[in-house]
Amino acid sequence: MKLTVLTSYEALSKHAATLVAAQIHAKPGSVLGLATGSTPVGLYAHLAAMHKSGALSLAGVTTFNLDEYEGLTAEHSQSYQAFMQQHLFGHVDLAPEKTHFPVGELVSTAYDDAIRQAGGIDLQILGIGGNGHIGFNEPGSSFDSRTRAVNLAARTIQDNSRFFAQASEVPHRAVTMGIATIMEARRILLMASGKQKAGAVAHALEGPVHERLPASILQRHSDVHVLIDEDAAAALKHL
Ligand code: PGA
Repeated sequence: MKLTVLTSYEALSKHAATLVAAQIHAKPGSVLGLATGSTPVGLYAHLAAMHKSGALSLAGVTTFNLDEYEGLTAEHSQSYQAFMQQHLFGHVDLAPEKTHFPVGELVSTAYDDAIRQAGGIDLQILGIGGNGHIGFNEPGSSFDSRTRAVNLAARTIQDNSRFFAQASEVPHRAVTMGIATIMEARRILLMASGKQKAGAVAHALEGPVHERLPASILQRHSDVHVLIDEDAAAALKHL
């Protein structure tokens, strides 16, 4: 694993955007795995700005998002489809038919088949949950898991309630790429920011590889770049 610790969320976002842009410049037809949540918002803003300035085109890129709440359509303001539209897709030249979510006919291993047919994910962007989840692969998820419907952990429902008017509106189920699906990406960029992620980051990078901390599996991937800010690095012992 390659580890880069940045001084701030802004520096982290900028650095991540540089890496993603380099991937697209090297291979304009790249297949990107995309994440939602607070963490990649700054990255997407930088990519949108690069596109606006004429420095980056995503016209050849294909995308597969990590997950989507079960039952939320693109019209729902808290769906991840709406999130991507708001933060990235609405600002760049990505073709809508080249963007994919695990919805409709793609709610299970058909999603993995679609990823394979597109050539496999070149670069997967990942956040990490406070409980160590990746995508919505909650603690206890099998390392062999494929794209499937899952129940969300109580902590995840609580963490995500900040995006909804009422906690009772947070869906309890989602469809997520599996851990084995994620591990097939050629390169992975794991991003984390803030003290609330420090414990999960330390366990993922320095703890035992175990299904109770899903992100720990990344220790077994051959090309992971971990980009975190100083707060998220606070519990690491070997810096
Ligand atoms: P966050 O979520 O970026 O909103 O903190 C990350 C995750 O749960 O994977």
